[in-house]
Amino acid sequence: MKLVAATSNPKKLEEIRRILSPLGFEVLPPPRTLEVKEEERTFYGNAYLKAKAYAEAFGLPALADDSGLVVEKLKPYPGVYSARFYRLEWGGREEGSSPDEANVKKLLRLLKDEKDRRAYFVCCALVYYEGKAVSAEGYLYGSIAYEPKGTAGFGYDPVFVPENETRTLAQMTPQEKDALSHRGKALRKLAELLKRCEGAL
Ligand code: IMP
Repeated sequence: MKLVAATSNPKKLEEIRRILSPLGFEVLPPPRTLEVKEEERTFYGNAYLKAKAYAEAFGLPALADDSGLVVEKLKPYPGVYSARFYRLEWGGREEGSSPDEANVKKLLRLLKDEKDRRAYFVCCALVYYEGKAVSAEGYLYGSIAYEPKGTAGFGYDPVFVPENETRTLAQMTPQEKDALSHRGKALRKLAELLKRCEGAL
C-alpha cells in the first residue's frame, strides 16, 4: 500500500519508513510541506487534521503521526504542545540552538528539584482517505533523566529513560527504539488494521 506521509519532520519520516517498510507499506515523502494548524486538544484530533489535509492535497491515502510527551507533574504540558513547548508563555520561553534543544532545556528547568519524574510518550498514527480514517495509538512509559545523554533519535529522546531501562532513547540503536517506542507500537497496530480492512479505505 502506498501512503504519503503527512509530516515535515525528516526524523519522524525516517522512523515511520523504518517501521512500515518491512510490513509492506511504501511511505512517500510529501511533494511539499503544508501548513496545517494543529489546533485540536487531542493527538487524534491533530493527526486527523494533518492526514486529511495531505490526502486532499496530494490525492493519496495520507499517514499522519501526532505524538508527544506527557509529564505527570506538568500535565497537560508538553502534551500536544510538545513540538513548540519552548516557545509557549506557560513555564517561560526558552532559547536553544534548535527547537529540540530548547524543549529539553525548558523541561529540565521545570523539573529541576522535582523527584517525581514520571512521563510517557503517546503516538496516534492515522491514515485518512476520501472521508474515512483508520487509527491506532501507542504508549511508552518511563521517566525524565536529570541531564541529556546520547545522540541518536530526536526531540526528547536524550532525556527519556523507558521503564526497566537505564539508558535514554538517544543511547539506543534505532532498532531498539522501534521495538519499544510509542511510534513502533502505534504503527504496527495500524498496519495490522489496514491489512485487515484492505479495500475499505
Ligand atoms: P508533532 O509533529 O506535532 O506530532 O510533534 C511531536 C513532538 O513530540 C516532536 O517534535 C518531539 O518534540 C516530541 N516527540 C514525539 N515523538 C518523539 C520521540 O519518539 N522521541 C522524542 N520526542 C518525540
